[in-house]
Amino acid sequence: MVQLTLLTNDKMADIESNLKGRDMLSLLDFSSEEVKYLIDKAVKLKKDTKDGKLKPVLAGKTLGMIFEKNSTRTRVSFEVGTVQLGGHAIYMNAKDLQLGRGESIHDTAKVLSEFVDGIMIRANSHERVKELAKHASVPVINGLTDMYHPCQALADLLTIYEVKGSFKGKKLVYVGDGNNVAHSLVIAAAHVGMDVVVATPAGYECDPEVIQTAKQLAENNGSSFEETNDSVKAVTNADAIYTDVWTSMGQEEETAQRLIDFKDFQINDELVSHAKDDYMFLHCLPAIREEEVATSVIDGENSYVFHQAGNRLHAQKAVLAALL
Ligand code: CP
Ligand code: NVA
Repeated sequence: MVQLTLLTNDKMADIESNLKGRDMLSLLDFSSEEVKYLIDKAVKLKKDTKDGKLKPVLAGKTLGMIFEKNSTRTRVSFEVGTVQLGGHAIYMNAKDLQLGRGESIHDTAKVLSEFVDGIMIRANSHERVKELAKHASVPVINGLTDMYHPCQALADLLTIYEVKGSFKGKKLVYVGDGNNVAHSLVIAAAHVGMDVVVATPAGYECDPEVIQTAKQLAENNGSSFEETNDSVKAVTNADAIYTDVWTSMGQEEETAQRLIDFKDFQINDELVSHAKDDYMFLHCLPAIREEEVATSVIDGENSYVFHQAGNRLHAQKAVLAALL
C-alpha cells in the first residue's frame, strides 16, 4: 500500500473479500481491522486520485441515494466518488419518491434492489435504515441518522491519520452534544486505539449503550475512554478537538434552551489554550460560527475542517469500492 499503512497487504486482501456485499449502518457493523482496512483503502484511493490512477471498479454500477434531510458534503462526495470510480449515482429526495406518499420501506427496498447496486440513505430515524437494509438485497450505507454518521467518522479518522501520522497515544476530545456525529466518532476512535474523551453538558450525554460498547472497544484496543461534563479538563493536552452543532437537524424547536445549556462548551481561544500547541480542530460541518465554535478557532491555523470535508470524498470511495 502507500505511505500510511495500518495493515499488511495479505491482511488487506483477506478483509477485502469479507466486506463485499455488506451493509454499513454503523461502524459497530465492522471489526477494528475492517475499520483500519477502510482507512488504508481511503489513503490509497486518495493517492490514486491525485496520481490519475483510479481504477473504474464501479463501472456499470449504480448507487441510489435517498435523502430525507438536507446535505451538501454527503450528497456531493457520494455522487462525485461514484463517478470517479466509473459508476453512476442517482439523487432521490425522499419527498419526491412514493415513500413520501406513504409507500412502505419494505416495498421501496425490494423495488430499488431491482434497479441499483447499492443504496445510500440519510434518514430521520435509524430504525428506518435498519428496516431498509433488512429488505434490500443490495448493500445499504448510512449517510446519517438520528443515531450515527459512520461515513463522517471514517473521513475524520483519515484526516487525523494524515496529520498526526498515527492513532496510538493520541488524545481525541469531542466537546458538545452527545449526538449522531459523536456516537460514530467515539466508536471509530476506539476501533483504532485513540484515547477518547467526550465532554457534554449534563443531560446531553451520548447514548449509554454506545458509550458502553465504545469503552469496551477502547479497552480491547489498549486505549482509554472517559466521559465528563467538564470541557476544560477534557481538552487539557488534547491532540485533536472536535465539535458539532448544538442543535441538529430536526431539533430546531430546542434551539433556545440549547443555547443556554451549551454556553460553557464553545470551542474558543480560552478553551483551546489548554490543548497541545499543535492540536487539530475538527468539525463535521455545517458549522455555526460564534455558537459552538469561535471564528478565530475554525478559521485559525489549527483548523483542518476543509481538509476533513475534502476527505469525505476519499472515505466514501473506500466504502463504495469495498461494499459494492
Ligand atoms: N458533514 C455532513 O454530513 O455534511 P452534510 O450534511 O452537508 O452532508
Ligand atoms: N449532528 C448534525 C450533523 C450534520 C452533518 C445533524 O444531525 O444535523
